[in-house]
Amino acid sequence: MPKTIYLTTPLYYVNAAPHIGHSYTEVAADCLARYRRLKGEPVFLLTGTDEHGQKIAQAAEAAGEAPQAFADRVVSQFLGLWKTLHIAYDDFIRTTEARHIQAVQAILAKLHAEGSLTRAAYQGWYCTPDETFWTEAELGADALRGGRPICPACRRPLEPAKEEGWYLKLRAAQPWLKAFVKDHPDFVRPQSRHNEMSSLLEQPLPEYLCITRPKSRVSWGIEVPFSPDHVVYVWVDALLNYITVPGYPGDPGRFANLWPADVHFIGKDILRHHAVYWPILLHALGMSDEQMPRTIFAHGWWKIGEQKMSKSLGNIVDPSVVVGQLLKGQPHAADAYRYFLLREIPFGQDGTFSEEALMKRLESDLANDLGNLVNRACSMIERYSEGRIPPEAPVGCAVDDEPLRQAALGLAGAVEQAMDQVEFSTALEAVMRVVTQANQYVEAVAPWKLAKAQETARLHGVLHVLAEVIRIVAILLSPFMPSVADAMWRQLGCRGERRLADAARWGGLAPGQAIGPHPVLFPRESPGTTSIFPRSS
Ligand code: MSP
Repeated sequence: MPKTIYLTTPLYYVNAAPHIGHSYTEVAADCLARYRRLKGEPVFLLTGTDEHGQKIAQAAEAAGEAPQAFADRVVSQFLGLWKTLHIAYDDFIRTTEARHIQAVQAILAKLHAEGSLTRAAYQGWYCTPDETFWTEAELGADALRGGRPICPACRRPLEPAKEEGWYLKLRAAQPWLKAFVKDHPDFVRPQSRHNEMSSLLEQPLPEYLCITRPKSRVSWGIEVPFSPDHVVYVWVDALLNYITVPGYPGDPGRFANLWPADVHFIGKDILRHHAVYWPILLHALGMSDEQMPRTIFAHGWWKIGEQKMSKSLGNIVDPSVVVGQLLKGQPHAADAYRYFLLREIPFGQDGTFSEEALMKRLESDLANDLGNLVNRACSMIERYSEGRIPPEAPVGCAVDDEPLRQAALGLAGAVEQAMDQVEFSTALEAVMRVVTQANQYVEAVAPWKLAKAQETARLHGVLHVLAEVIRIVAILLSPFMPSVADAMWRQLGCRGERRLADAARWGGLAPGQAIGPHPVLFPRESPGTTSIFPRSS
């Protein structure tokens, strides 16, 4: 049995409602999962929420709620959004679930029993928003000169902290990790992030990672089984989900089928946790090089103009406002949003989110190009072929069809190549190029003129070509825009499952097949007038 393709998203903090940054990681992971399923591979997509730690406890307190009740409320917003955005995950893990807590405790007990943990006290600085402890060595002398240092990751002020707790050796594992990263060019992607990790590993790592927090300071967490005054550090708790859900340590059979992860999707801000702490933790658990995650893909950041999204700037973009209000009236609003996220910037780079950019993609790529192609092809099949897929043109009658036919036939390969590299925008660009070419073909052959001249065989041949191109495009777009692909499929009158292999073949449509009703996919009147910044104060 082939190993199941195992893809993960980060577990999102439930201190606030989801925003576009969260939806980006989620949509990307879902798109790759759908693509691998389209290929016929077994896939397991895991997502969930990170619910412990000081940050959540503080947010709950500010809201006047108990942490669990607060988390329950925010989790329902994540679940609602994932449904809206057509996220087809296989499991959703909450770190407050018993199945996770028990496994985390078993893992900690194992590390302790094997002598991998040391009890000690450590002086340093703590970033509460990031839940990250920084040693003075990591901050460097310059940062400490001006009084209260700021967090190197998020640039917010740090709090002095002395941690009495349990520590995992980091520096002792550094030579191993350094060699591992060097020998595995795909371990961290894109290349720029791999380089970042390699240079980070040139400097000595802190000697230890404190993997517990004193209960006196952070009580909202998983109790350490052998040290009841401590809870598990929230990052260790959360990272472990990637192995607790696949069945570690209780279900070795299931674990062997899922682990290692094929891709951990993350944002670039949490690379150090995933590319340093995580492999060292797995290594400490006795996992071999072959059991390390295959790829950690760190994507870029969405900014608003030149600014970071932040509550204090009042520029947090809520995806449900984008989909529900800004794109109101669009039957495939969620897909338009998914398309924008994956097409607008190369995966791995930073980008700028704006209402204008979103609307431009909707109007030009989706309404004018894709929607127009599908609509005019279906309307002409209705008018000139009694609403049935016409037969192919007789041989020799269709020389000018060849470039488009070849382009459409080469598309599956181009998409495959891009998706193997997790290059969503390149894949979409290739598909949309064929859509544009198909529209140009319609203009060039002018089927309405063929109808007037009663060149029926040729006319039918042209419409057949268009229907085939749309079939291929529908298959290849389905990981990106699942509801649009379903609609295109129905409009062509197709019923069966979509499979990637069928996109590389010509002639998948049966002549005579009745097409379905074909409402416009992306209607031009877009009544969405609401600003995307409703929360600005
Ligand atoms: N809870 C941790 C992850 C633990 S994984 C074991 C966490 N959560 S988060 O909610 O803060 O962030 C989750 C994801 O959202 C990260 O991948 C992060 O990079 C992403 N984004 C948050 N803001 C973002 C943007 N403005 N743009 C793009 N993605 C960003 O970190």
